[in-house]
Amino acid sequence: MAIESSSTQAIPEVGDTPRHVAIIMDGNGRWAKRRFLPRIAGHKQGLEAVRNVVRACIDCGVQCLTLFAFSSENWRRPKDEVKFLMQLFMYALEEEVSRLHQNGIRLRIIGDRSPFDPKLVRLMVEAEEKTKLNQILTVNIAANYGGRWDILQALNRLSHEQPDKAGRYEESDLAPYLSLHDTPEPDLFIRTGGEKRVSNFLLWQLAYTELYFTDTLWPDFDSPALNAAFESYRQRERRFGRTSEQLQLETPRRDVAGA
Ligand code: FPP
Repeated sequence: MAIESSSTQAIPEVGDTPRHVAIIMDGNGRWAKRRFLPRIAGHKQGLEAVRNVVRACIDCGVQCLTLFAFSSENWRRPKDEVKFLMQLFMYALEEEVSRLHQNGIRLRIIGDRSPFDPKLVRLMVEAEEKTKLNQILTVNIAANYGGRWDILQALNRLSHEQPDKAGRYEESDLAPYLSLHDTPEPDLFIRTGGEKRVSNFLLWQLAYTELYFTDTLWPDFDSPALNAAFESYRQRERRFGRTSEQLQLETPRRDVAGA
């Protein structure tokens, strides 16, 4: 993360549309249960919601979308559900990447890949390689990701590469090793499904992110639901530690996402 995109080191640009949206896609299981379907049917429908939200983000001029697809704690789920989710990721990577590429989307997968099937890892690498120059929208899929894991892997690499500076590390030393080091911090965090917690998502990067919680279950989250989140975002006063009075003296905010 460049120091100018760190919300604690400099005041980021703020527009009417969030540049970076981070989402915890919760409620797939309940969506299925309400329809007397197996949980995996909810995950399948969840993939459809991903397609819709990606489209809506492009239409709104969002630059970056980060989706929490599988947390480092999701391995605790029933074996069959974990197996299905792995198959669904594999399917999504095999079937969707060409369409993403045609639409100018850059795909990245963040998280610890070491426990994944080598075929899944190969598909991840190929998808990233194929789409790496695309600029319309970056979609980061967090898979076996945890915010604590991210900070620890960054610290371990930093201490390995700069052992002499141990005990004197600064934010700018650690930031380049974090998974989203080259991306502005999320402006808006959305969690669907009614729970109000961050669940070990982007702990470092959410420092000054606006939080939005909705009862809508993820498979029902569509373009109007995204717009409702953006409307709520537009009402927020993003002070980054300053006072309201200081903010009012500054220039009115403009739409940096569309710039
Ligand atoms: C949480 O709902 C959802 C997940 C852990 C999986 C998310 C996966 C998808 C949306 C589909 C695939 C996505 C990609 C990007 C390939 P839950 O099961 O916890 O729902 P519940 O709280 O109602 O039980």
